[in-house]
Amino acid sequence: MSEPDIKKGLAGVYADVTAVSKVNPETNSLLYRGYPVQELAGTQSFEAVAYLLWHGELPTGDQLAELRAVERANRAIPADVREFIDAMPTSAHPMDEVRTVVSLLGGFETAGIDNVLDAAGTPAENLDRSVRLFAILPAIVAYGQRRRHGLEIIEPREDLDYAANFLWMTFGEEPAPVVVDAFNRSMILYAEHSFNASTFTARVITSTLSDLYSGVVGAIGALKGPLHGGANEAVLHIFTEIGSAENVVPWLDEVLAAKRKIMGFGHRVYKRGDSRVPTMKLALDALVDHYDRPDVAALYDALESEFVSRKGIYPNLDYPSGPAYSLMGFDTLTFTPLFIAARITGWTAHIMEQQASNALIRPLSAYDGPDERHVEGYEPDA
Ligand code: ACO
Repeated sequence: MSEPDIKKGLAGVYADVTAVSKVNPETNSLLYRGYPVQELAGTQSFEAVAYLLWHGELPTGDQLAELRAVERANRAIPADVREFIDAMPTSAHPMDEVRTVVSLLGGFETAGIDNVLDAAGTPAENLDRSVRLFAILPAIVAYGQRRRHGLEIIEPREDLDYAANFLWMTFGEEPAPVVVDAFNRSMILYAEHSFNASTFTARVITSTLSDLYSGVVGAIGALKGPLHGGANEAVLHIFTEIGSAENVVPWLDEVLAAKRKIMGFGHRVYKRGDSRVPTMKLALDALVDHYDRPDVAALYDALESEFVSRKGIYPNLDYPSGPAYSLMGFDTLTFTPLFIAARITGWTAHIMEQQASNALIRPLSAYDGPDERHVEGYEPDA
């Protein structure tokens, strides 16, 4: 028998087709349902992009108003869910907190379904669940940051759109338009990225006919790792470690000698630059001006140019988004939960796509353990 051709990490493997997004590393482009992501980030609200990912088309005015009404009506954390959150240690990593709360919501939402064959739900139920998760996640993430700092929960504001309300619930201040714009862009840029590790995890779970919440909980677990979403948090640790632009060269000498990876750089698919970075960098530049923090821009530029010139490895989206979220006032631990709040749209679009055209995802493995052997004393049944 010939040796199986193993693609470690499934690198270069096409696992299925998707109509949700297209990543083209040749042209450094990312399309959501056909639209270039930078065009969406420059013109649309995150709510409109969520609609696009779920339905395949941008919403009409009425459709957007309807989605916004449902989103507003589902923003608040119910009291019984809040009790569970308050029972968690404030020192829990917020990714663990959000993962646990989504799992809990699943328990509430699917209560009464006692036949596993009904677990997957209907397309209408799953669209509804997707919209409600999208609506409640900002409150969970915002409350997580506030709870860690010993601050009271801030109730959502009906008069604010998604991005402004998210910032309001986190900071309790009316956000400046430039901050709302940068935040909205980051949500759109993080919303979807084809078969990345977390989305693929969600699709694997969905392929067993499990429920949407289980798919999302699994996806959050995959996102937490620093080779995936956890990198935006790790970028800020690196910035703190380096301190200022003058320290970049000696810092880089040391970490490259120690063969450490520089978080926020490199990508499995893009090898000549991440298509989302220029748009997020513009948002970061606007924040640097708004908060008058040229030191952040200097460190960002110095590390990027030194690392790219030495290794030819380019920044990914986590590189500009880490410092952008920090300037907005989010604490470092909240960065990856922000990624969840954005990617819930892409994950759920993929879960529904998987459900609509399902095949159990079950690859093969080549075995390299011991040859067959036998347990001493075992007697085959007569
Ligand atoms: N820092 C230093 N070296 C790197 C980096 C990096 N960030 N990224 C890749 N390399 C090097 C590797 O050490 C390896 O070198 P070698 O061939 O001498 O051993 C080579 O480039 C190939 O790296 P792999 O990890 O095999 O490439 P892969 O395509 O599997 O990796 C990945 C992609 C995991 C994202 C990688 O670039 C990495 O670890 N980056 C840092 C983590 C990060 O920023 N993740 C965010 C991803 S994007 C997102 O989730 C929005």
